[in-house]
Amino acid sequence: MVETNNLNESAREEKKTTISLSPTISSMATRGDESTADPSAAEVIFDVEKLDAFYGDFKALSNVSLQVYKSQVTAFIGPSGCGKSTFLRCFNRMNDLIEGARVEGTIKYRGADLYDEEVDPVEVRRRIGMVFQKPNPFPKSIFENVAYGPRLSGLKKSKLAETVEKSLRRSALWDEVKDRLSASAYGLSGGQQQRLCIARAIAVQPDVVLMDEPCSALDPIATARIEELITELKSEYTIVIVTHNMQQAARMSDQTAFFSVALDSHGSRTGELVEFDKTETIFTNPNDSRTEAYITGRVG
Ligand SMILES: Nc1ncnc2c1ncn2[C@@H]1O[C@H](COP(=O)(O)OP(=O)(O)OP(=O)(O)O)[C@@H](O)[C@H]1O
Ligand SMILES: [Mg+2]
Repeated sequence: MVETNNLNESAREEKKTTISLSPTISSMATRGDESTADPSAAEVIFDVEKLDAFYGDFKALSNVSLQVYKSQVTAFIGPSGCGKSTFLRCFNRMNDLIEGARVEGTIKYRGADLYDEEVDPVEVRRRIGMVFQKPNPFPKSIFENVAYGPRLSGLKKSKLAETVEKSLRRSALWDEVKDRLSASAYGLSGGQQQRLCIARAIAVQPDVVLMDEPCSALDPIATARIEELITELKSEYTIVIVTHNMQQAARMSDQTAFFSVALDSHGSRTGELVEFDKTETIFTNPNDSRTEAYITGRVG
């Protein structure tokens, strides 16, 4: 469901006064209607065309084109080093922070060129949040971890507690922490810390949440909890997730992109998109023999 309650509306109002939005991105980034079950009819949130990603002279990814659809989970799978994290970071311009990193080709976010020089990368990262492999709470209280982003965006102090509670409820952590909000986030278990990081990411009302192997440091129970949470969150957020866990990709995602590594003419290892399709097709009837070999565990 698209969130339209007073809390979000007022938070949005607050933000307008403190963030100078890029005209292109802000006009594009209003959530539209619900998606339909048919991905081909769903709204395109990201449209990637012929993307190459470089670190200095090294080409990490070559010629990637795909679409990410609204309110769906899109999974990136493939062997280590094929460029999944590099690609994921292109979606919120996190690679900009890495010296020597650059992209060629285009990524359109809701129709606007994400790499246009008018676009403010800080605002991009607010709208397109990220959750990392290792839970990385700030050395602050549970409350402050979630309140940090909304406060920075200028949310009124009187609204903070409400926003924190709502975010913790949505990330299925509230009941476990409501009596210890002022305790350090470091006192939480790994799975709880990861749900806190998800709460922190959604507290600023992003449009998209990117997740890079969010369960790989967690035990099976905590993993199941996060998977359940992601499935619930997808009605409100568009989610892109990198995972090494085939079952996880098959269980949770609507679309799957399989990446691999190819040797170029200079013997350099470059990541490429082998196949992108509905998850069901990738796992039951892949088009490319490399995909089949990977998902059946014969290579990778
Ligand atoms: N900051 C960087 N500087 C230089 N090269 C990098 C940097 N980050 C990644 N690379 C290189 O880019 C390629 C893709 O790396 P990336 O981390 O995107 O792969 P990955 O598919 O996420 O792998 P994994 O599954 O192990 O996380 C690799 O060859 C890697 O060594
Ligand atoms: Mg990675």
